[in-house]
Amino acid sequence: MAKIAQVSVLKLAFFVTLSSFVSLSLAQQTLSRHCLENPPTPNSTYGAGLVKDIGGLKAYVSGHNRSRLAILLVSDVYGYEAPHLRDIADKVARAGFYAVVPDFFFGDPYVVNSSRTIPEWLKIHGTDKGFEDAKKVIAALRKEGIHAVGAAGFCWGGKVIVQIANTDFTKATVLLHPSWVTLDDIKAVKVPISILAAELDNGTPPELLKQFEEALTANKVNNFIKIFPKVKHGWTVRYNETDIPTVKAANEAHKDLLDWLSNFVFLSLGQEKLGRHCSENPPTLNPNYGFGFVKDIGGLKAYVSGLSKRGILLVSDIYGYEAPHLRDIADRLALAGFSAVVPDFFYGDPYVENSSRTLEEWLKSHGTDKGFKDAKSITAALRKEGIHAVGAAGFCWGGKVVAQLASTNFTKATVLLHPSRVTLDDIKAVKVPISILAAELDNGTPPELLKQFEEALTENKIENRIKIFPKVQHGWTIRYNDSDATAVQAAIEAHIDMFIWLSKYLRWYF
Ligand SMILES: *[C@@H]1O[C@H](CO)[C@@H](O)[C@H](O)[C@H]1NC(C)=O
Ligand SMILES: *[C@@H]1O[C@H](CO)[C@@H](O)[C@H](O)[C@H]1NC(C)=O
Ligand SMILES: *[C@@H]1O[C@H](CO)[C@@H](O)[C@H](O)[C@H]1NC(C)=O
Ligand SMILES: *[C@@H]1O[C@H](CO)[C@@H](O)[C@H](O)[C@H]1NC(C)=O
Ligand SMILES: *[C@@H]1O[C@H](CO)[C@@H](O)[C@H](O)[C@H]1NC(C)=O
Ligand SMILES: *[C@@H]1O[C@H](CO)[C@@H](O)[C@H](O)[C@H]1NC(C)=O
Ligand SMILES: *[C@@H]1O[C@H](CO)[C@@H](O)[C@H](O)[C@H]1NC(C)=O
Repeated sequence: MAKIAQVSVLKLAFFVTLSSFVSLSLAQQTLSRHCLENPPTPNSTYGAGLVKDIGGLKAYVSGHNRSRLAILLVSDVYGYEAPHLRDIADKVARAGFYAVVPDFFFGDPYVVNSSRTIPEWLKIHGTDKGFEDAKKVIAALRKEGIHAVGAAGFCWGGKVIVQIANTDFTKATVLLHPSWVTLDDIKAVKVPISILAAELDNGTPPELLKQFEEALTANKVNNFIKIFPKVKHGWTVRYNETDIPTVKAANEAHKDLLDWLSNFVFLSLGQEKLGRHCSENPPTLNPNYGFGFVKDIGGLKAYVSGLSKRGILLVSDIYGYEAPHLRDIADRLALAGFSAVVPDFFYGDPYVENSSRTLEEWLKSHGTDKGFKDAKSITAALRKEGIHAVGAAGFCWGGKVVAQLASTNFTKATVLLHPSRVTLDDIKAVKVPISILAAELDNGTPPELLKQFEEALTENKIENRIKIFPKVQHGWTIRYNDSDATAVQAAIEAHIDMFIWLSKYLRWYF
């Protein structure tokens, strides 16, 4: 069970001790000696995506073109036809992003055995030119309706991306075994940055990374620097496929890349929406709230945001489908390329705090068993509309409904957010991947019970992730106080976890 000490992952993770390294002169900012090893065989038709023109450059693109979140991947000297790089783009796409890999070399990537040396080739293909081109690509993506862009750069691309990181063109950045990046480059960085570096990299050795980290921290820039032991510069993209430990390390770096960018790119959408409304706790219902629309699905009214073949069913708490915070979550999922569906499980009769009915009385006509039946009708109706891949997330009351849904094959993956009345037996019946995002302060579903849930799921070999958020109360992901920045931050943190979990299991369905 992951009990997090802090909501952020922003910790310097030096996996190796710096002192174990031979000191290298930092003045020697040379191309790493591993920069040209294991060159790829370019393949113009490789990958799940396609090649199109973006901002005057050709680019390999992969992913849902309705996603409003793009990740720009900047290649090493071998360019955009490298199969491993396209594999990474496809991975990024499966997580719900629109992945874009431009051809920064205009058909002229470096070829190891050409008569040109690298310095000669670099005269035509400098990183400054790459920086100018990257800005053009991002501007073109914005015009196509992309909301937020994150960027990752490999070796040569790392230098391009670090320059982008001192502009407001991107929301977050990842450098993978970058080349030629200087302390001055790092001092100018403005956006959250992660550096995934190799232990064996004479161009960007651990001592230099330590200075990078100090500079970023001094400038209060969110940063995550990780040194992967025993791997060489270039390993995340030019790994040898039969070298299993290196492939594992490469996959780990890809996951770190995705986690970092998901966090900040998705978060940026959240921040854009903050302050747009002022709802109390309980919510002030608003039938007209949100970017989406209300339609009939499976006999229920539902708020729908986004048009995609990948659906996410959001099951409300007792306050129902007109709660603005719930619709905000739906809208963000829509921007990320999903179709979010928020049904009115209470048929126009959500719980009202100040009604003469007690909650127990209200529950007699609005039990979770009825909700479960309705949720099944809705997923069946969605399937008829062509939405075959459905994930579900439920809040409080909805957590119980989604827990029951998880015992069927109606969804591909589920998330329970501070669920109410979920029992160990419910959990033992779960058949699909499940994540539980729980509050530390929740007498209904306390940490001890969550521990039992986790043991049962693991014993039944159900993929699971249980996370207890410290210092928050039951209901915090949906009934947070808008003017309390800490509460908002904790809620968004949970929304991102929900998004990452569901994306992971719905990624195959476009
Ligand atoms: C290039 O990729 C395509 C699509 O994956 C594949 O069919 C083809 O064999 C590859 N060509 C080479 C030379 O590897
Ligand atoms: C998205 O892709 C589909 C299928 O490839 C295409 O028909 C549609 O026009 C594209 N939409 C946009 C906004 O690019
Ligand atoms: C490099 O190119 C030269 C001339 O084209 C050729 O003779 C040589 O075999 C090549 N070497 C390798 C390792 O491919
Ligand atoms: C890849 O790794 C395998 C197994 O470790 C090794 O036999 C092979 O020579 C390596 N290939 C290259 C191109 O380094
Ligand atoms: C609760 O409802 C009663 C009767 O409708 C009303 O007089 C009272 O002001 C309400 N209280 C609150 C806190 O809204
Ligand atoms: C769920 O399982 C039942 C029985 O095995 C099957 O008939 C049905 O088609 C499945 N539904 C989905 C959506 O996979
Ligand atoms: C919301 O938070 C603000 C700032 O912390 C506080 O002043 C206000 O009383 C809170 N509102 C509620 C309803 O708790």
